[in-house]
Amino acid sequence: MLARERHLISRRSLFPKKWIGALHQARVAVRYQSQRRKQIQHSIAVKQFLRSLSHRNTPVQTSKDMEVSLDRSVISRALEYMLLMALTVYLGKQVKKPSRFVGRIFARMMNSSHSALTDWALAHLPIDENAKVLDVGCGGGKTIEKLAKTASLVCGIDYAAGSVAESQSHNRRLIAEGKVYVERASVSSLPFTADFFDAVTAIETLYYWADVPNDLREVLRVLKPGGHLVVVMESYKGGRNDWLLGPVMGLIGSNRLSADDYRALFHGAGYMEIELFEEPANGWICIIGQKSRVPRVGD
Ligand SMILES: C[S@@+](CC[C@H](N)C(=O)[O-])C[C@H]1O[C@@H](n2cnc3c(N)ncnc32)[C@H](O)[C@@H]1O
Repeated sequence: MLARERHLISRRSLFPKKWIGALHQARVAVRYQSQRRKQIQHSIAVKQFLRSLSHRNTPVQTSKDMEVSLDRSVISRALEYMLLMALTVYLGKQVKKPSRFVGRIFARMMNSSHSALTDWALAHLPIDENAKVLDVGCGGGKTIEKLAKTASLVCGIDYAAGSVAESQSHNRRLIAEGKVYVERASVSSLPFTADFFDAVTAIETLYYWADVPNDLREVLRVLKPGGHLVVVMESYKGGRNDWLLGPVMGLIGSNRLSADDYRALFHGAGYMEIELFEEPANGWICIIGQKSRVPRVGD
């Protein structure tokens, strides 16, 4: 109770008791109203602050708060970007050289994802039933299985442990029958004698070869005179998928070549009758070169 009210009460004889009670109640009501107003203002301020935290782009009250919020959003975006890049490079490396455990899963997945592309490429090269065929960079072994439906012997090589393991497991029945043979080796040094194969296939692998001119010559060595090399890829410089796959290939240090580059490389390595097929709807490219039937001077 205020001093003024106490003073009035002390002069009870001058003012009726009812007046003094009403005056006290009015003072209490005014004080309650002002407290309530303060509570409402406080809760509005809290709500505004929470809203500014949940909407990153909403400006925050002070410049210091704004700097802290911007720093956080830049750092979190940089982290997200770095994580995405690391994941892309990791996946790219598993496709380039599948490891024994995780890579085997990728090799198996590529068996189905490259199946239509492989069928399109093989349609350009009839293989007869006595043919001996080598699949370079055989991955999960599906192309070996397809070739073995016609050819008399199919060999597969791959420099990755995961690919060799998956190819052997995928073709175990054909291996047991003696129709298929799979070995770990690099295209740069093929474990076969010269003039042995009627055809060599290279599905989605030439991008990754370390020394394409020499590797093409090494393939030529194991081909019989008149034998063919078939190379196919789902991305090439100037092709439909280049905008997406080109930068990823660049990140993992792969070759990015155009149709003209392939023609020139085949020609430089000594292939004849070079044919180039493009499938614009899917962005695929297939290059076929033949080993001369007549030995070249110096061979
Ligand atoms: C994208 S995968 C394609 C696999 C398979 N040809 C397919 O179509 O599913 C590329 C394969 O080529 C193999 N490879 C890459 N460079 C190679 C090289 N220099 N010698 C042998 N194999 C290689 C990789 O290990 C991998 O299995």
